[in-house]
Formats: sequence, C-alpha cells, structure tokens
Amino acid sequence: MTADLVIANGTVAHPAGVEKADILVGDGRILGLADPGSGRGARMVDATDHIVLPGGIDPHVHFLIGFMGQRSVYDFYSGTVAALRGGNTTVIDFALQRRGRTMIDGLKHRRVQADRHVATDYGLHLIATDINPATLAEIPAIVAAGASSMKVYTVYEKEQLKVEDGPLHDLMRALAPVGGMLGLHAENASLIDHAIARHLAAGEVAPRFHALSRPGLAETEAVQRGLLLAQDAGCPLHIFHLNSGPALDAIEAAQACGHAASAETCTHYLALTAEQYDRPDGHLFVMSPPLRDAATQDRMWEGVASGALGAVTSDDASYSAEAKALGAESFDRIANGVPGVEARLPLLYTLGVECGRITLPQLVEAWSTGPARLFGLAPEKGSITPGADADLVLIDPHTRRRMGVDSHYGPIGYNPYDGMDLTGWPSMTIRRGEIAVQDGAFLGKPGQGRFLVRRGRDA
Ligand code: URP
Ligand code: ZN
Ligand code: ZN
Repeated sequence: MTADLVIANGTVAHPAGVEKADILVGDGRILGLADPGSGRGARMVDATDHIVLPGGIDPHVHFLIGFMGQRSVYDFYSGTVAALRGGNTTVIDFALQRRGRTMIDGLKHRRVQADRHVATDYGLHLIATDINPATLAEIPAIVAAGASSMKVYTVYEKEQLKVEDGPLHDLMRALAPVGGMLGLHAENASLIDHAIARHLAAGEVAPRFHALSRPGLAETEAVQRGLLLAQDAGCPLHIFHLNSGPALDAIEAAQACGHAASAETCTHYLALTAEQYDRPDGHLFVMSPPLRDAATQDRMWEGVASGALGAVTSDDASYSAEAKALGAESFDRIANGVPGVEARLPLLYTLGVECGRITLPQLVEAWSTGPARLFGLAPEKGSITPGADADLVLIDPHTRRRMGVDSHYGPIGYNPYDGMDLTGWPSMTIRRGEIAVQDGAFLGKPGQGRFLVRRGRDA
C-alpha cells in the first residue's frame, strides 16, 4: 500500500488495546494499519519508541470568552494552537445565546468569531439562556446546523446565564425528538447563594470559602434533579465538569438503568485538591465546581477507569494571573476557571497511566474516543481506524519535563500545574494528515481547522 504519509514503527494505542504497527495516511484519512516497518509513503515519520494516539478531542474549552468582568487570554487562534501543542486536533467551544436574542444569532456570531482563526477542527455547544416558544422552535435547525448538544447553567444569575427548571425541562423535551443532548452545569444556586452570603457577612472572603460555599451536596442535588428532568423528557443528558462522588453514583445508577446519561470530569479535578486554596496564590485555583478532597479525586479516577465518566476535559478558561488577582480580595469576585488545554495529555499519562490509575487504552477512551462518541463526531474522529480522519498525536513516554508558566502558548502568567514533573508530552500532532505541530512549533496557518457539524444522539 503506498501512502502520502506513514507513521512507522510506533506503539499504536486504541481503546481496545495496544499494537506495534505502521499507520498509512492518504488524503487526510487513515488508509490502514500495516506490520511495523512495512509501510511505504511519500513522507515517513519514525515513531520508534513513541506511542501514537488518536488526536485529542477536548469537548469543553472556552476561547475568546468574557466572564465575571474578565477576558480569556486565548482567542480562537492562540487557543487552538495551544490545543494542538497539547496533542488535540479537535475542540468543542460554546456559542452563547444572549437573553432576548435568538439561538441562531448566537451560533452565527460565534462562527464568525472562530471560522477564519481556528487551527484545530472545532464544534460548538449552544449555551441556551432564553427559552420560550419562539426559541424552542429553533431547536431542530440548531441541531441540524451541528450544535447537537446544548449547555444550560443552573447557576450564575448575575452573569445572565441561569435557567430555571421549567424552561430547562421544556428545552429537554424539545431536544429529545431531534436527537439533541442537554449538557448541564449542575450546581444548586439557592444553596450556593445562601452560603456565599453567609460567608461574606462573616468576613470570610479567602479563596477557601469559594470551595466551602459550593459543597458536593450542591452539585449532587443539581445532577440528580437534572437526571430526573431528563429521564422524564426522554432526553440524553451530559454533565459537564463533574466533581462529586455521590453525583457520580447517580450517573452510574442512571447508566445502569439504560438512560442516556454521561458525564465528564476535568484534568484539574484529577490533578489538584482543595489544599490549593490555602496557598498565598489560592485565588488562581478558583473554578466551579471547586476542587475537593483526595477521596473525591480518587473517585473521579475510578470513574475514568470504569468509563462511567466518558471524557476528561480541560474546561480551559485562560484568565491571566493579573485578571484572577483583581478579584482576590473576595472569593466571589474571582473569574471562575483555569487554563489547561495544553496539559490534558501529560497529566492523564503521568498521573493516570504511569501512576497505575488507568491503562493506556482507558486513556485513549477518555482523551479522544469517548468524547467523539458522546458528542457526535465518531466514526470520523476519535480512533485510528481505516477511513477515519488522520488526526494523530505522538508522545514520547521516556522524556520527562517540568510544567511551568512557559508551558502555555499565551501570556497567562501562571500555570495551575506549575512544578509538576510530567511525561507523555506530545512531540508531533497531525491534523487530517498534516503535521500541524512538531516539537512545540506550530507549522500550520490560522483557519485551517474546520467547523464540525456534529450528529445527534439517540435518546
Ligand atoms: O469555573 C469554570 N468552570 N469556569 C468556566 C465556565 C464553566 O462553567 O464551565
Ligand atoms: Zn460550567
Ligand atoms: Zn466550562
């Protein structure tokens, strides 16, 4: 078989196992796998001593975002270059429907912001904030336009994001018949707002009170409520950024009953605990849901290993150290979120595979194959199989490097994983058969990424 490109002699990782093979690429797609050393092509890449994985799919990033008065450092160009440097070939960001506006307006606006700038392929979840008969009528068109999953926030009223249960249920009922999926930022607003007010009144303003005001209970209650509403509506439900053991129990129970319920956790929950909030720079670690204890972290790893958590995402929200510090005098004013799109793979490899918490095939599932299946991108994305897009990442499992502020592509000014010695760094990222990043250098151009029209999921 002749090919445009051959990735030769690598250890190829699939969700079902690992094999030594050559990968043959033609016309941007995988042509096939062949015995190691047997492939011939116009361009040969020697992957000896390297692991070859499907390109990462990070289905939860926030590029070019404004939130709580701050703006992300990453826009669609720099964010997607950072993503490629981290081994990702696809990201899914969000299109915001502003209150009083249509959903299609939100989707069109975001595509204008992204299309000519992205370096990875990308998709969009629609953030629904204004649900009424007119916007519900838009749902079939929105799903057909490729935003087959939506995000609804049960918190953040000040930011004009929060949706009440009635309209949320209406939205689920509208999504179900057209193959749409509802994704939830699940926290109980009443419990949280009450606790925030209590802490502020007592002068308890340090970052640790961010975590104390958003307990696991608030998350678990909202996940259980979301599951009840979704089951009634017959709508697939995805829980974004899950970090509560009992909430994971509820997801597992729903899955065991055959409900289309899925959830992701994030690299920061797998790598960090609430101890970070007691550091002098604890404000840098404020995100929602917050970091919790080591037992919760162990439970999240269990969920990744079992597959109950179908994806590990970065939830990349790159507010600079300066921007985070502006709110540091009171935890409720710190822009929520941390950067991480470059860190997902070395963290999963080192803390997961090297530390024996997950296997390499389980990493592949959480890193790429699971997200592709959950978010309507398979079979083109998420696997190294004939006919799939030739989205690949090569990692060197023998080279160890320290994570630092300069591991970011942009001037973020801090790194949540600063000082961690990690292995499994990407040495080459290939997007649809093109070498897009080699040894950290971006070799492509803005706008080379494509918008992905994602399929819906069956209820
Ligand atoms: O704290 C977080 N997760 N910030 C990003 C926005 C979101 O809710 O995903
Ligand atoms: Zn969220
Ligand atoms: Zn997010």
